Amino acid sequence: MLEVREVETFHGDIQALKGVSVSVPEKSIVSIIGANGAGKTTLLRTIAGALAPRSGTVSFLGEPIAGLPPHRILRRGIALVPEGRAILARLTVRENLEMGAFVRKDPGVAADMERLMDRFPILRERQGQLGGSLSGGEQQMLAIARALMSSPRLLLLDEPTLGLAPLVVSEIFRTIRQIHAAGTTVLLVEQNVKQAMKVSSCTYVLETGRIVLSGPSAELLEEPRIKASYLGQG
Ligand SMILES: Nc1ncnc2c1ncn2[C@@H]1O[C@H](COP(=O)(O)OP(=O)(O)OP(=O)(O)O)[C@@H](O)[C@H]1O
Ligand SMILES: [Mg+2]
Repeated sequence: MLEVREVETFHGDIQALKGVSVSVPEKSIVSIIGANGAGKTTLLRTIAGALAPRSGTVSFLGEPIAGLPPHRILRRGIALVPEGRAILARLTVRENLEMGAFVRKDPGVAADMERLMDRFPILRERQGQLGGSLSGGEQQMLAIARALMSSPRLLLLDEPTLGLAPLVVSEIFRTIRQIHAAGTTVLLVEQNVKQAMKVSSCTYVLETGRIVLSGPSAELLEEPRIKASYLGQG
């Protein structure tokens, strides 16, 4: 569904991605792990169109998308839940959700809003409250729900559990499973390595701008290098 090939992305003179290739099959969950500064956010922002790669290709559903502006990539069906959530603190929960649907022209928006509020009852309860007044976990739920309002085929999640308490982390992972079960493909960046690998079929390990290891998550969970560097075992 998504094919990233030999992508190089720079921040000014700093090369953050040094020839990254990642494949995301339709209906899968794929996870990307890696230390701080490895280039995970740069990769997701490159896919979502917030950054243009200097070389390499990104194709989605067989069409090249690298270099397209973010709203056009969103319209094609790729939504990003950015690192740090980036919900609009001074807008209400409902207004935040409405913003998520701005690229849509179809008449299904109101029904989708209802469905999302069924799925996230807390958002229905708080729909008139300002986004900024929600707890961290609730804001993350709102950020995910807002992205779903664009009715994406591929959801990019950048560290959705960062800074959340263990119970809330479990809730976010449950939500990711539900989104996947409902038919959306997911590309997940996580520092919660074990849970990310357990929820995904395939994992890529990014180190200083390069994929150093990749494969079926179940196999990589047994990989000594993963155990030592990312799971704190051995
Ligand atoms: N706007 C920017 N300007 C300059 N350098 C940047 C910018 N954004 C990222 N970088 C650099 O690019 C590299 C990759 O950063 P990136 O944010 O993609 O890493 P990451 O894997 O998401 O890290 P983290 O786990 O901390 O979120 C780092 O060396 C970072 O310092
Ligand atoms: Mg990051």
